[in-house]
Amino acid sequence: MLTAPTIAEIADNHARTIPKIVLRWLVQQDAVVALSRTTNPDRIAENLAVFDFELGDDEMAAIQTLARPNSRIVNPIGLAPVWDAS
Ligand SMILES: NC(=O)c1ccc[n+]([C@@H]2O[C@H](COP(=O)([O-])OP(=O)(O)OC[C@H]3O[C@@H](n4cnc5c(N)ncnc54)[C@H](OP(=O)(O)O)[C@@H]3O)[C@@H](O)[C@H]2O)c1
Repeated sequence: MLTAPTIAEIADNHARTIPKIVLRWLVQQDAVVALSRTTNPDRIAENLAVFDFELGDDEMAAIQTLARPNSRIVNPIGLAPVWDAS
């Protein structure tokens, strides 16, 4: 996600960093919880400051198009649901 041109363009439009756009995309969805983790103190502040701007419906949809079936990193057999059934 950090190198996707779609997200870089949205980040430019909002004058925000790419990680902020990714986190904002997560927290702006219903029933989605973002768990951010960093060892860098500066990034803690960056990652929390995602509640002072909004992505437009077109931007939310553009990021959603980057999803690919079976691209999940965490997908334990026997524990994960069938993520991409729809
Ligand atoms: N993955 C799981 O299955 C799982 C399950 C249960 C709970 N959790 C919890 O969920 C949290 C996140 O886990 P995770 O597996 O998603 O973490 P992760 O991938 O291991 O770590 C997040 C990565 O994102 C980087 N990062 C964070 N903020 C950034 C920023 N603003 N710009 C660029 N890079 C940034 C961090 O690098 P730096 O440290 O260098 O900033 C780190 O490499 C943790 O507290 C974990 O305990 C995870």
